[in-house]
Formats: sequence, structure tokens, C-alpha cells
Amino acid sequence: MNNTENTSSASRRITIAIDGHSSCGKSTMAKDLARRIGYIYIDSGAMYRCCTLFCIEQGLISGDGAVDEQQLQARMNEINIAFHLNPSSGRPDAYLNGVNVERQIRTMEVSAHVSPVAALPFVREAMTALQQSMGQKGGIVMDGRDIGTAVFPNAEMKVFVTASPEVRAQRRYDELRAKGEEVSFDEILQNLQERDRIDSTRAVAPLRQAPDAYVLDNSSLTIEEQNQWLLDLYHKLTN
Ligand code: CDP
Repeated sequence: MNNTENTSSASRRITIAIDGHSSCGKSTMAKDLARRIGYIYIDSGAMYRCCTLFCIEQGLISGDGAVDEQQLQARMNEINIAFHLNPSSGRPDAYLNGVNVERQIRTMEVSAHVSPVAALPFVREAMTALQQSMGQKGGIVMDGRDIGTAVFPNAEMKVFVTASPEVRAQRRYDELRAKGEEVSFDEILQNLQERDRIDSTRAVAPLRQAPDAYVLDNSSLTIEEQNQWLLDLYHKLTN
């Protein structure tokens, strides 16, 4: 089959926002949809992960996990984030200051610090501006926590994804183990519950279901089933 679906609505390039809890398979389904309909896929979480990696590399996070906010704010202009298509995976890789950091940003070390960094208002302001500039022309699928509520409140298609914490932890555990990372299931479960708590209670752009979002609980769906659900919704909204 062709990489891109042949749709009658191909000329109407909308904005698609996919939000939800951590590790619930948003990026898998968002990437698949973007590939099928020929849209750009942007992983907004990767941007917050890049900011966090910068903090770790520059020693801006102390042993107790506190972020040196003043230093980070003063150095935000040193953070340059871009995405480039990886020809072997067919998916965009994240680059921090010209370096491919796709693997480093997915480690537990980054996961452990990302939510406090992402809660900082000046970090959100900078990332939101970048995301909005990337999505200016439509034809984009972006996943994250606040895409349908704060980044693209007028997105034509909004989806809110969730699954039970245990299912999500198992998926992330399998993913990290497959990459050879030594992690425990309990550590992952704890991390995703803590991130959900911080993401949902922060003052700026908290994780919320947009009132006009379509909700998907994919706890008992296969990857193929969730991808199909999303594609069907896209066709329903655009045809
Ligand atoms: O892959 P996973 O779903 O676990 O997380 P992610 O999408 O890579 O996002 C990592 C973290 O970035 C989240 O836990 C949030 O703290 C933050 N984030 C955010 O604040 N706003 C977004 N639009 C996307 C991510």
C-alpha cells in the first residue's frame, strides 16, 4: 500500500491535537496517522525532554532535583530544538543544538526531571511559541499535554487518550527494556503517576481534557486497533 492514504480531503489540511496521560501510546498513534495522511508529526514532549536534557548536561539540576530556574531562564536562548526525519525509521528525530538526542531524551533520567522543568512558565512560553510556529500552516499532528487546550485551542480535531496506569507502565517498561535500559516496573509506574500529578496540577497549561476532545481509553486496544480508531475519526471529521 502507498505510504500516504489517498483521501478526497487531502487538500484540506487541518490541525490535529492529541493529548493525554504519560505513556499511553499517543506518539505511536500520532506518528502513524501523520504518515498515513501525509501530515507533519511533532512530538511536543520531546521538546520539554530536550530542555530537561540541557539542564542535566549543564548542571542546572541539583542532587535533590531542584532546577536552577534563574540560570535556565537566562540561558533559554542557548536551547535550539529541531526535528529531522530519520530515513531508517521514517520518523522525526529530535535534535538539541544540532545533536541527535532522540535516544538520550527517552531515558528514565530525563523522565525523572522533565515534569518540573515543563511546569516552568518561561519554558512553556518558549515551547508553545515554537510549537505554534511549526503548526502555522496546518497539516500537522502534534501530541502532548496542552495541545488542544493551550497551543492550538482551535484545532479542528482533538483527541484525549488515556489508559490505566498499570497498562501504561507495562508498555513503557517493554519499550525501555527493548532498548536495553535497566529499569524496574515499579520505578516506571511511580514516575508516570508522579508526572501525571505534576502535569495536571501545574498553574500554566495543565493537562486537561478539552471539552471538544474525542476521548479514547486504549487500555484494551491493540496498536492496530487504536491507529484505525484515529484514522476513522479523521475521515469522519474531514469528509
Ligand atoms: O512519552 P510520555 O507520554 O511519557 O511523555 P512525553 O509526551 O514525552 O512528555 C514528557 C513530559 O513533558 C510530560 O510528562 C510533561 O511534563 C511534559 N509535556 C508538557 O508539559 N506539555 C506537552 N505539550 C508535552 C509534554
